[in-house]
Amino acid sequence: MMTICPPEDDAAAPPEAFSALKWRRDGRPRGLLGWIAAQGMPLVNRRENRALVEWLAPAPGDAILEIGFGPGVTARALARRTPNGLVAGVDHSAVMLRRALRRNLAAVAEGRMLLCHGSPERLPFRDGMFDAAVAVNVFHFFAAPAAACREIGRVLRPGGRLAFATRGPRAGRGYDIAKARHARARQSLAEAGFTELDTAIVTARGPHDVIIISGRRR
Ligand SMILES: C[S@@+](CC[C@H](N)C(=O)[O-])C[C@H]1O[C@@H](n2cnc3c(N)ncnc32)[C@H](O)[C@@H]1O
Repeated sequence: MMTICPPEDDAAAPPEAFSALKWRRDGRPRGLLGWIAAQGMPLVNRRENRALVEWLAPAPGDAILEIGFGPGVTARALARRTPNGLVAGVDHSAVMLRRALRRNLAAVAEGRMLLCHGSPERLPFRDGMFDAAVAVNVFHFFAAPAAACREIGRVLRPGGRLAFATRGPRAGRGYDIAKARHARARQSLAEAGFTELDTAIVTARGPHDVIIISGRRR
């Protein structure tokens, strides 16, 4: 059986001409530019996606939640590593939901993946059902990061990990912006009651490393 949480009515979407501007503000790819972004993201974000899955090293039976799955690359890699488990995700972009579903049709059809239109502030999952939750290149879009971490914590089992992977430029203005974002992620995890906070730096080829900020649910 195929289970899909459909996008809400897109009537509130802005006219196409304004979509790019609004997207920069709210992090919701839409329209033609959103579609183009969905094609490019697997390549552009490959280091963060790969590093996160390696770092998490899920067990075959794990249930994992991904926030902001975008075109569904990490979700696919996680599903391959959890043949007896579940990968679920929420993303607030209808364009990305469609792309991720297409990329993961087999896992969705087998009932091993559940992709939903939604946001981390209100998750359509029951308490304690996930072993881990992840978000790649997404945290800085959260409007209320501590509240989002609290809600993600609700659906994690005690001891479950929440990890945010982002780019870590090594110098320049990008370094300062990233540093502030990483500090905010750690603070939000702490405010939401996560323990064992950790910042891992995964050295990557190219101009930036991958930073993984994580915590454990009590
Ligand atoms: C920069 S893309 C990253 C996609 C993917 N994780 C990757 O690294 O390739 C950010 C994604 O997060 C989603 N997103 C941003 N803020 C969100 C929010 N508050 N709730 C749900 N999804 C969100 C966007 O729709 C987009 O698909």
